[in-house]
Amino acid sequence: MRLLEIIQRSSSFLEERGVELPRLQVEWILAHVLRVPRLQLYLQFERDIADPELGAIREAVRRRGRREPLQHVLGTAVFCGLEFGVGPEALVPRPETEMLAERAWQWLGNLPRSEIPPRVLDWGTGTGCLAVTLAVRVPRAVVVAIDVSAAAAALARRNAARHGVEARVRVVEGSGCEALAEGEKFDLVVSNPPYIPSGEIAGLEPEVREHDPHLALDGGPDGLDLYRRLASELGPRLLPGGVVVLEFGDGQAAAVSGLLGQEGWIVGELHRDYSGRERFLLARRAD
Ligand SMILES: C[S@@+](CC[C@H](N)C(=O)[O-])C[C@H]1O[C@@H](n2cnc3c(N)ncnc32)[C@H](O)[C@@H]1O
Repeated sequence: MRLLEIIQRSSSFLEERGVELPRLQVEWILAHVLRVPRLQLYLQFERDIADPELGAIREAVRRRGRREPLQHVLGTAVFCGLEFGVGPEALVPRPETEMLAERAWQWLGNLPRSEIPPRVLDWGTGTGCLAVTLAVRVPRAVVVAIDVSAAAAALARRNAARHGVEARVRVVEGSGCEALAEGEKFDLVVSNPPYIPSGEIAGLEPEVREHDPHLALDGGPDGLDLYRRLASELGPRLLPGGVVVLEFGDGQAAAVSGLLGQEGWIVGELHRDYSGRERFLLARRAD
């Protein structure tokens, strides 16, 4: 079958199943299976595609038509220019979290240099995208990445190895700071905790509600359960001068800032995502 015909038929198939940007999705699948840059496809419309590629393309398009996320179908997602293994074990890294990562590595880069490497905690690491990116970007940093999900922790370990930073990213399976050694403290804590109100999960797109782990989404009745926990358990974990950088959901800025304020935090910065919505903050201890 000609490449252009595959693009047209598959795009219609995905469109009928409610997939957004169907043609672009098909192009990403083709680029992946045929191992060519996506734009190269435009120079190959007349190329004849046969098995085994044709079979692989059909299977991938079918999976996408069942509303599996594109990244699950491809097996990888790009975060801050780095490729991460993804799958049902953990949340697919989101573009807005890249901005949090960037602010975090800038903050680490501004620390006065000392003999002691900066210590970073990634609370709820998922794929390990934040932990691994910070370790790659800040080669002096030593990172602890926690996740309560054993499957996510295993995936984060594989992603750390994929980028050659496994010696500086210690992945710990356990619930929040309970998983840490007593007295273990950090210069920087980053977290993108689950923050969807439980009652809103059923209304999310199938790609999210059926394929991202529930543990990565559910923030309790008002979406703020994990912020309550972070506000109380992170204070004793910060080294002097340390900060936390937290992502939150659209519309949660005031509530999360309020919770932190009640627990003795000062919110120093509020940052917006690419659509102009407040999406993450930087806070330090008031004392
Ligand atoms: C929204 S996902 C974020 C994953 C990743 N940091 C990212 O930004 O893509 C939240 C993660 O927190 C983890 N998590 C939920 N409750 C936790 C807890 N009590 N302790 C540690 N991790 C937890 C989930 O398993 C999930 O991997």
